[in-house]
Amino acid sequence: MTVHPQPQPRAADRPRRKVFVKTYGCQMNVYDSQRMADALERDGYLPTSLAEEADLILLNTCHIREKAAEKVYSELGRLKKIKERRAGAGRATLIAVAGCVAQAEGEEIIARAPVVDLVVGPQSYHRLPEYLGRAAAGEAVVATDFAIEEKFASLPRPTAGRTRARGVTAFLTVQEGCDKFCTFCVVPYTRGQEVSRGVAQIMDEARRLAEAGVREITLIGQNVNAWHGQGPGGGRWRLADLLHAVAGIAGIDRLRYTTSHPIDMDEGLIAAHRDIAALMPYLHLPVQAGANRVLKAMNRHHSRDDYLDIVARLRAARPDVALSGDFIVGFPGESEAEFAETLDLVDAVGYASAFSFKYSPRPGTPGADLPGQVPEPVKAERLARLQERLNAQQFAFNQACVGRRTDILIEKPGRRDGQLAGRSPWLQTVIVDAGAGRIGDIVSVRITGAGPNSLTAVVDR
Ligand code: SAH
Ligand code: SF4
Ligand code: F3S
Repeated sequence: MTVHPQPQPRAADRPRRKVFVKTYGCQMNVYDSQRMADALERDGYLPTSLAEEADLILLNTCHIREKAAEKVYSELGRLKKIKERRAGAGRATLIAVAGCVAQAEGEEIIARAPVVDLVVGPQSYHRLPEYLGRAAAGEAVVATDFAIEEKFASLPRPTAGRTRARGVTAFLTVQEGCDKFCTFCVVPYTRGQEVSRGVAQIMDEARRLAEAGVREITLIGQNVNAWHGQGPGGGRWRLADLLHAVAGIAGIDRLRYTTSHPIDMDEGLIAAHRDIAALMPYLHLPVQAGANRVLKAMNRHHSRDDYLDIVARLRAARPDVALSGDFIVGFPGESEAEFAETLDLVDAVGYASAFSFKYSPRPGTPGADLPGQVPEPVKAERLARLQERLNAQQFAFNQACVGRRTDILIEKPGRRDGQLAGRSPWLQTVIVDAGAGRIGDIVSVRITGAGPNSLTAVVDR
């Protein structure tokens, strides 16, 4: 006798629960949130942008500075009220904390905010459905193991439908974790060792993105230029080789990569900026500080001149390359004269954009225990001076674009009706009239105006 298997209810036939995801921090978290949302969708959850109607609330958190971590607790306070209101109406809500605060603080989170049902670190996302099941049964689940290859292998890949809904640009994680141990930084502790994804997996994901209509891919990693792998012929590949391969995929017209560490800017990668037309002339290359003593105390492994030399070689390879950077002011022991060297480096480089922060002592990092912690008002004053200079450079860079012809990738509707928003090769937002093209088009434009944070343009016919 043949036994016919009982038809299983498909996920789509079950009542749809809803999930609200809130993401903090860097691109790695943005990427992970999307993969988690995909995994949850497979498990029957529909995404919602309203916490009030969510059966599952997922916070993907960042631990990089104290402010970022504290935001999570104030959000949990707000969510507690929502959970109580929903419980009053007979509806259960699960609250999960993922990301770097989850990894760094583990069960402390539940001790401090008992409203949390599940704490899950970045290396355990592929087991989310199982953990949610246990949390729903009343267990306080804390999952903070490191097993990164398993995560990459088991999280769902982007599919055409899901990706199409998300747009014409996409992040693709190629590398995770960090072994550099800058003395201010929590990432090596929250994300674990540097791990590179394999070439075949990356190429497969890039092709799927292209098939789904993505035209611009940004390869991401905490130290993306430390990526290494094995090419199809068995040879050792560096990031430049991978960029060449991804640039060869039909439909992928633009490529970027971030974030890079200066010590991994090898010759091949610099040459890639000259040789790969699809590689956009823009590089985010954090330097943190301009004084050699501070760079050394930060354990950055390069000098001020090393950094300036990389910038010079990049510009020789690709004269129109624009730079962006990260800066920390008030690292322990930073003197006024040393801070002035940061300002001086900013002048020497000329940045198109930048991120700058007050040093935030992070528990467990060597910097937190160094003598000479800089008082808060001094940090605030230095940050203001640095930002004034960086903002002026950004505005000057934008103004220098006026009159230029360039291509933009149209990404989304503009904030006003009748407008579209695109991106220049230098990552500037460019506003054009809706008649300029459709989302996903790359159109040739002439820049007509510049503000501090965006440009306007007309189609160049
Ligand atoms: N891997 C990247 C940076 C990751 S963190 C790199 O090495 O460049 C992003 C930025 O946050 C850093 O570049 C640094 O500028 C800032 N940052 C990290 N830890 C910080 C801390 N403790 N206080 C203030 N800023 C910090
Ligand atoms: Fe943090 Fe330094 Fe690693 Fe960047 S390179 S993630 S700043 S430890
Ligand atoms: Fe924050 Fe973790 Fe990214 S600490 S910056 S979310 S790697």
